[in-house]
Amino acid sequence: MVKQLSLYFNSVYKPCEFANLPKPTPPPIKTTMTIPTPHFPTTRLRRNRRTPWLRNLVRENTLSAADLIWPIFVIEGEGKQEPISSMPGVNRLSIDVAVEKVKEAAILGIPMIALFPNTDAKLRNETASEAFNSKNIVCRAVRAIKSAVPQIGIMCDVALDPYTSHGHDGILKDGIILNDESVKALVKQAVVQAKAGCDVIAPSDMMDGRIGAIRQGLDAAGFQDVAIMAYSAKYASGFYGPFREAVGSGNLLKGDKLTYQMDPANSDEALREVALDIAEGADMVMVKPGMPYLDIVSRVKREFSVPTFAYQVSGEYAMLMAAVAHGWLDADKVIVESLMAFKRAGADGILTYFALDMARKLKT
Ligand code: PBG
Repeated sequence: MVKQLSLYFNSVYKPCEFANLPKPTPPPIKTTMTIPTPHFPTTRLRRNRRTPWLRNLVRENTLSAADLIWPIFVIEGEGKQEPISSMPGVNRLSIDVAVEKVKEAAILGIPMIALFPNTDAKLRNETASEAFNSKNIVCRAVRAIKSAVPQIGIMCDVALDPYTSHGHDGILKDGIILNDESVKALVKQAVVQAKAGCDVIAPSDMMDGRIGAIRQGLDAAGFQDVAIMAYSAKYASGFYGPFREAVGSGNLLKGDKLTYQMDPANSDEALREVALDIAEGADMVMVKPGMPYLDIVSRVKREFSVPTFAYQVSGEYAMLMAAVAHGWLDADKVIVESLMAFKRAGADGILTYFALDMARKLKT
């Protein structure tokens, strides 16, 4: 039996309806291939699985240290490593300790780290003013890591939640997160981080219009080479719980983030978010959380063909580690399997708390 397969090759970037980009030019080229329908016993798919070398040979996706971005929580002090109870194996690090660990990460081939602060409770307020302090803990960590480990990229989160007394990512007034006022604050925060030496600005706040405003703000301040990785499709997820413990915003958070983060039921809306962010100047986009949203990663990568990242968030880490701690799952198997799933879905890289351990394992 013969099956007709029609394949449409269209490598032309498809501009979204929101972008002010030139119209797509060439029409798709249609080709027709005729292939026989595979069939047993001529075809035996187990033949290619017979030995390790064969499996290596036909493997479709690979995982390397270059795929990993390592999120790090920084705290005040010296020589400190503070455990986070809901994230066994992850510690908040004082800057000096972080520098040493980042040196190892760079040697292992991890291209970039992502910094998150646990800001002193005294410094948190309604307006998140500490976010604009050029000597805040994130800026000091950026400077220290840049000078000690210049070969690794540094990404900084742009959102106000580690700095607000109410734990929200934006400016709160009468129970409402004000969009445009929040965007102004985020631009200031991004410029302060760029001045400290941050390479990639990663807005995770989900305000409308923030990517365009941040791009303009960075350019106006002379930082046209600082890139933006937009947390474009960030869902209002229960999987962020352990992260909020790590940055100390969990107990402070009043209400929820449903008016700015996405509804977990939506998928088309994620594409609109990504389209807007690309049009506004995002260099890379991200989907978050990771494993429960692999369908979104796959759609985004197929639709836009831009560098696409996924965040294996704190709750995903906690779930795996809890099961491993009980002896219910084998860490060596499930960690690599969970990370490979992102590659298979089309992600160009993964933010993961397993990054350092995984890079160590990949080396051996
Ligand atoms: C802050 C931010 C969050 C995460 C990254 N940046 C939490 C949130 O939006 O409440 C979550 C990361 C994780 O869970 O690992 N805007």
